[in-house]
Amino acid sequence: MSDNFEYPEYDIIASMYEKYVEGKSLNMLPAIENFVLSKTPEGSRILDVCCGTGKVTEVLQQRHYQMTGFDGSSKMVEVASNKVPDADFFVADARNFSVDEPFDAALCMCDSLNHTTKLNELEMIFTNVGQALKSGATFLFDLRMEAGFEHYWGQDSNELNFNVVEDEVVCTSHTTYNKETGDGRLVITSFHRKGDLWQRHDSIIDQKCYSEEEVRNCLTNAGFDNIYMFRVKEDFGADEIGRAIFVCNKV
Ligand SMILES: C[S@@+](CC[C@H](N)C(=O)[O-])C[C@H]1O[C@@H](n2cnc3c(N)ncnc32)[C@H](O)[C@@H]1O
Repeated sequence: MSDNFEYPEYDIIASMYEKYVEGKSLNMLPAIENFVLSKTPEGSRILDVCCGTGKVTEVLQQRHYQMTGFDGSSKMVEVASNKVPDADFFVADARNFSVDEPFDAALCMCDSLNHTTKLNELEMIFTNVGQALKSGATFLFDLRMEAGFEHYWGQDSNELNFNVVEDEVVCTSHTTYNKETGDGRLVITSFHRKGDLWQRHDSIIDQKCYSEEEVRNCLTNAGFDNIYMFRVKEDFGADEIGRAIFVCNKV
């Protein structure tokens, strides 16, 4: 078990994430439609794991699914709740959550699982998601794979282009990736105006690169089968290198 079951790193950047980043998660909508919505009737209950500011939750709620989202950042959940008042939200760490009533499908989008940097904790998340699903339910998630880390997070990269200059906040970001260890780090440095002063905050967001084999083994150990991996560039023609979508079923 980890000694740190919290994930507050996005708290300080929640409103900037909503304004500048969250729309990216909709690039995965065709895959969600193809592998999840096509098999899941309207009205079904879908769990958005690490829902962030709730963009995907919002779109699926508008399509008449009963959405529940949770995230480890209370500020991200606050933004999501304001955006999608009809959906249910709670704050929880994906490594340590449970639900009362099992769901018909689950999603986890936009690198969220790369944020878990230990393989045993990734498996714990899969086990928790499995326990939150009905037998046969689909679980779809995306991951940044090695080619993506190398291409976008390599030395002195600035993939996110998260450079914001507003009256009350100024923000920049920087990524690094260690190919030998598979460790990536995103540092978002923001300055927030406090009267005549500016307060600096560094959000340090570590990510881990996992191999397809590691992910498949964890999913199998956690009780999933029918495991498929798709590459969004090669299989869906998306303009992004090194992002994979995994689809599987709870046994
Ligand atoms: C890049 S954002 C993606 C948010 C959302 N899924 C989307 O598609 O826009 C990653 C999110 O994962 C959340 N997160 C990372 N690790 C987590 C954990 N162990 N438990 C809960 N939330 C976590 C962060 O707080 C953040 O909101």
